This record gives sequence, C-alpha cells and structure tokens, in this order.
Amino acid sequence: MTTGFTNKPPEKVSTDILVIPVFEDIPPESLKKKVPLSDEIGRLIEREDFKGRPLETLLFPTLGKIRAANICLCGLGKRKELNEERIRKTGGKVSSVIRERKIRKVAFMTDPFSGFPGAPGLITEGFILGKYNYTAFRKGRKKKPATELEFIGKRERTERDILKESTLIGEAVNFARDLVNTPANYLIPEVLASEARKLKSRRISVQVLNRRGIERAGMGAFLAVSSGSRKDPQFIIVKYNGASSKVPPSLLIGKSVTFDSGGLSLKPSEGMEKMKYDMAGGAAVLGVFHYLRKSGISANIIGILPATENLPGGSAAKPGDIVRTVSGKSIEILNTDAEGRLTLADAIDFSKRFRPRAIIDIATLTGACSVALGNEAIALMGNNASLISSIKKASELTGERVWEMPLFEEYREYLKSDFADIKNIGGRSGSLVTAAYFLKEFAGNTPWAHLDIASTAWTDKEKPCYPVGATGVGVRLLISLLKELYQ
Ligand code: BES
Ligand code: MN
Ligand code: ZN
Repeated sequence: MTTGFTNKPPEKVSTDILVIPVFEDIPPESLKKKVPLSDEIGRLIEREDFKGRPLETLLFPTLGKIRAANICLCGLGKRKELNEERIRKTGGKVSSVIRERKIRKVAFMTDPFSGFPGAPGLITEGFILGKYNYTAFRKGRKKKPATELEFIGKRERTERDILKESTLIGEAVNFARDLVNTPANYLIPEVLASEARKLKSRRISVQVLNRRGIERAGMGAFLAVSSGSRKDPQFIIVKYNGASSKVPPSLLIGKSVTFDSGGLSLKPSEGMEKMKYDMAGGAAVLGVFHYLRKSGISANIIGILPATENLPGGSAAKPGDIVRTVSGKSIEILNTDAEGRLTLADAIDFSKRFRPRAIIDIATLTGACSVALGNEAIALMGNNASLISSIKKASELTGERVWEMPLFEEYREYLKSDFADIKNIGGRSGSLVTAAYFLKEFAGNTPWAHLDIASTAWTDKEKPCYPVGATGVGVRLLISLLKELYQ
C-alpha cells in the first residue's frame, strides 16, 4: 500500500473514493464551501437520515460531477468526543466498507482533524487493519489490487514518516494475523520456525532447537507438552541486535501451541477448532520482529517461541506425571490442558541465560481471561511496578487495552503440590491469576510481565479494524512498549 499527501482541492482529486469525515448533527448548510457537491450531499443527508454518528457511513456515486467516482461520508460523532482511537477506527471502518470492492485509490479529507496532527498516521494504521482479509483458502479471491491512500490537506513536516511508520505497524499486525488464521494442519511448529527464519536480516538472527536440542537444554516441561504429538517441537529464538552486545536485552516470550486439543485432559469438541489460535502470542512476537526488520530502534530484543502441538498421542504426558524445567524445578502435571504455562516455564527459565533487563510473555493462557474481562482487554500481571506502568502507557497510545489483575502472595498456596515443587493447576477459582502466579514462580527476581490475550486474540464478530478471526492483538502494544522503554 502506498500513502501520501496532496494539496489539490478535493473536487480536483481523481480517486475511486473521496472520504468526507463529518461530525454528528451538523446542519447540512455548514458543509457549504467546505466540501464538493455540498448541495447534493445536503439533500442526500436529509433523505438518508445520515446523522454523522461514530462510524456511520454513506457511500454514493458522483456520476461524473467531480473527479472522484464515489463519495463516502463517514461519521465522527460529537466534535468534543473525538479522540485518537475514534480516528483510527474511522480509517478501519472506511477500509472495511470497501474491502470487498475493486478499489485502487482512496482520498481522505482531513479538515475535521485539525486538533490531531497524528490523524493521517492513525487513519493509515486503522485502514490497513480494517482492509485485512484472510483469503488463502478461498477460490478466486487471492489477488487484490494494491491500494493507494492519499490525504487531502497540508502536510506537516514530520507526517511523511508517520505514514511510513503506521504502514509498517499495520503490516506487522496483518502478518501476525495470517500466521494465526492459518489452519493448524499447515501451521505446524516447523512452519512457524521457517516463518521466523524468513525474518532474518542484517540485524535479526534466528536459531531453532529441535527435539534433540530441547532435550539437551533440559526443558522437561516443554517436552512433556510435545510428547503426545509426532511433530517435532521447535524452540525458536529470534534476536534483534540494535545496540552493543553489552546492553542487556528485553525478552519477548510468545506462547506458541500450534494446536491445543487439551492432550489427555481432552477439551470438549465444541469450539476446539479455535485452538489453532493458541499460538497467537508467538505470532504477536514475530509481528514485532517483522516491524523491527524495517524500523530500527537502539535496543537488543530477543523473542522466544516454544512451538509445539498439544495432542493426546500414545506417548502423551499423563495427569500425575512429574517433570523438571531448565532450572530443575519439579512440576506435577495435574491437567494436561494447562500446557501453556509448562511451555512458558521452560522458556522463562531458559531466557535467564541472556541476563534480560525484562521478560514480557504474551499468551492465550486461560479461558478464565474472558470470564473476567470479556473481549475488551488484555489481562496484565507482573512483578515490577515500573514495567507495568510502561505497559499501561504503551497501551493508552495504541488502544489495545490492558487491565491489571493482582498476584497476591496467597495464590502460592493454590499451587502447592503434594509430590513436586509446584503443580500446574490452581483449582477452579482464580484460574486467570493462578496461571500467572505459576509463571511468576519461574520469573523470580527478573522484572517480568504477563499478558493474557486468550479473550482478545480472536474475534467472532467483525469490529472496525478487526475482521472476523485473528486480531493480531499485542503487536501494536509490544511495539509501543519497546518505544516507551527505549526512546
Ligand atoms: N489455550 C487454553 C486457553 C484458552 C481457552 C485460550 C479458550 C483461548 C480460548 C489453555 O491452554 C487452557 O486450556 N487453559 C485451561 C487451563 C485449565 C485446565 C487450568 C483453561 O483455561 O480452561
Ligand atoms: Mn490448554
Ligand atoms: Zn493452550
């Protein structure tokens, strides 16, 4: 997708669609002089009862009266309620309106956004997110013409970079969505590893441990999860070197269970197909590297994806089994469906060898996450106030909401095992927080934060910027966090 600015008057811009954003309850007369065809639009607004409510749209052909073939009115809601997220959603809404059409060029009027110098960037980001469509397995839907997005108005000095930056971010999210939407018979651990290898570049290196390497490293918990599958597990390590090797890295660990059947503690069949998205954390981490490949920051970042299937094969882990992680801690597996934390425990233990400044894990970890928060926020937990506050700040800038949940000391009791150092389930109550508490026991003193994206990584309902399926949640939050930590 290409983006740019023009200072031509709107009626002179040749484009498939001219987008005119309008505030709520504006009297049609006030459009006069400001927009082309204002008389016609005024009549149309009355006839169609268009109110300019947030994300309300009205698309109509101009029949050759101006250069633009169509006009799309897009509501912004009340002027004083306008904010960054609403502007982003406006971009997303417009692109979803045109997603199924053959559109090459969209031109956006920017006058209503005068108080928001970042608006073209936000619209670009929203537009790329809303335009996304997963078509790999649908006949005849593959080739989409490249779109051009043009902003009508004065270009601020820095805005060109904003457009480039927003494009990179949007494309990183869509890259992660593709990985998550890919069915689990295609996206097996080895394929995830090869997707990671494709990101290799001057500053990005990739190393992958296979079953042998994972055994040698002593990852007994991770191995237990993969033991019920014939597919080779892959422990994927992606390194971005953007600073001197003496600078401690930040670690991003993404849960990468390419399919979670529950193992011997088998899940019910209803809804099990969704469990291809159990690698959305890993996909978000790779999305961050997709962005880092083109946009440098001065930092060292290491991504870790312990990739495996969780299946009930003949050699699968059994309830009651006891395994040891890299650090030697023993875990009693009481439910093989609590597998994410087993893979992450080894990944966290392993990552300590890099002497990280911080560890952030992102995982579709618990069904209880949606019980607590619905689909509206990522559950955030951690052991370090300053890291948590950086994540909250980063979240505000992206609109990817986080909500902090507690890690009271009392939860340790819930995880006490009769036979091992810890057990992998804490009982029915508090299972969102006890899952996180389990991870905390492995993080130890290293600054660590946990993002449970179980309820936000997938959407069954289309939303502006989010077509049905994988949302790519976490990519924008983590990129924003890295900027918060390093710029
Ligand atoms: N991958 C699931 C969590 C999940 C559920 C993600 C629904 C997205 C949607 C995880 O591995 C899991 O099965 N968790 C169990 C843990 C339980 C056995 C303690 C859960 O939350 O039910
Ligand atoms: Mn599970
Ligand atoms: Zn899982």
